[in-house]
Amino acid sequence: MGHQRKKLIDIAKRLLNHNLNGSTDQADEIMVKSVNDYTDNKIISSEVSKIFYDHPVPIALSAELKENNSYKATKAIDTPLLITRDEDGVARVFINICKHRGAPVCPEGSGEKSKFNCSYHGWMYNNKGNLVNIFKSDTFGDIDTTKIKLTELFCEEKSGFIWACLNPDIKYNLSEWMNGFDSELDDINLKNWHIFRSKTLEGPRWKICWDGYLDGYHHHMVHPETVGKNTIVNLIAHDTYGPHQRFAFGLKNINELAEIDEKDWEPENHLRLIHSVFPNSSISAIQNQHCLVSIVFPTPDLQGTITTQYILCLEEPKTKEQIKEAEDFAELSRAAIVDEDYPMNFKIQDSINSKANKEFLFGRNEPIQQHYHKWVDKLSSK
Ligand code: FES
Ligand SMILES: [Fe+2]
Repeated sequence: MGHQRKKLIDIAKRLLNHNLNGSTDQADEIMVKSVNDYTDNKIISSEVSKIFYDHPVPIALSAELKENNSYKATKAIDTPLLITRDEDGVARVFINICKHRGAPVCPEGSGEKSKFNCSYHGWMYNNKGNLVNIFKSDTFGDIDTTKIKLTELFCEEKSGFIWACLNPDIKYNLSEWMNGFDSELDDINLKNWHIFRSKTLEGPRWKICWDGYLDGYHHHMVHPETVGKNTIVNLIAHDTYGPHQRFAFGLKNINELAEIDEKDWEPENHLRLIHSVFPNSSISAIQNQHCLVSIVFPTPDLQGTITTQYILCLEEPKTKEQIKEAEDFAELSRAAIVDEDYPMNFKIQDSINSKANKEFLFGRNEPIQQHYHKWVDKLSSK
């Protein structure tokens, strides 16, 4: 049996047994979390700096920079980033700030380009970050251009993502950080998927927002007509890999498996699998040919988030029908997040200062958020 099939069968078995017993994967105890951890700007800013800056985070999909000599200029929290792929296919990440006097060397966007002309006075850099030309250099004065280079960040390409440490002083061992989760991610083969669409969304503050992505306990209330239509609420199979997590929800047809010979199972049709990369990325294969990837960063003032939402298809949709299926999936994903999750999260955020609660609770049936908050606390060593 293939390794991927065996994995899915094992998860399906766990979900089926839970559903037949009325149980779910659980944490050892109820977790009590101070509301202060959601509201105190000092705590949040220290956590963001320790978690998002000092550890590798996914900043783009490999599939966004498919071709050699392609690039993407974007922003993560308050750091403008220039991601490049050189003529040999090597990806690098720089802070998109010119060494002359701090202007962006490339406007936000993506495409194919190997040289970047600073938007202010036209200094030119190549995609390895080296300064290759100073405009009117004969008048500028004596300066060793070979010593001038864009600030480069730790970068590695792995499992379909381009990862970077936003703090330029940090070098990292990504494999150690992945804790085996990279081989889980490799099973998805993300880098070969086709990006059908991507867009950015404004969302609520980081932890309120991210709690929603880790929640298997709200589908019946918040998503009855979208992603909750086919999933059984509160039925989770949960596994952790260091800070990262893989979890699966059972679909409403899970009990059918009890009637089918295991060798004939198609487990992917009975569960919804989500891979959650700590601290900010989620890969959700809601239907087998379609996948939703979300990368979420706090806004620079930490009062909100910016989500990059990618809709991917296993193959590029070509026929009218395939395009319609991809459109329907994109709309389902949009509606679940923009019309359902984020409005609920914004309601929580809008009244979080009301002094109604000093604490929030995470039940034993909410092991995913519990794991996340334990790691937030651990890495910010509270
Ligand atoms: S700031 Fe870039 S060329 Fe002057
Ligand atoms: Fe949700």
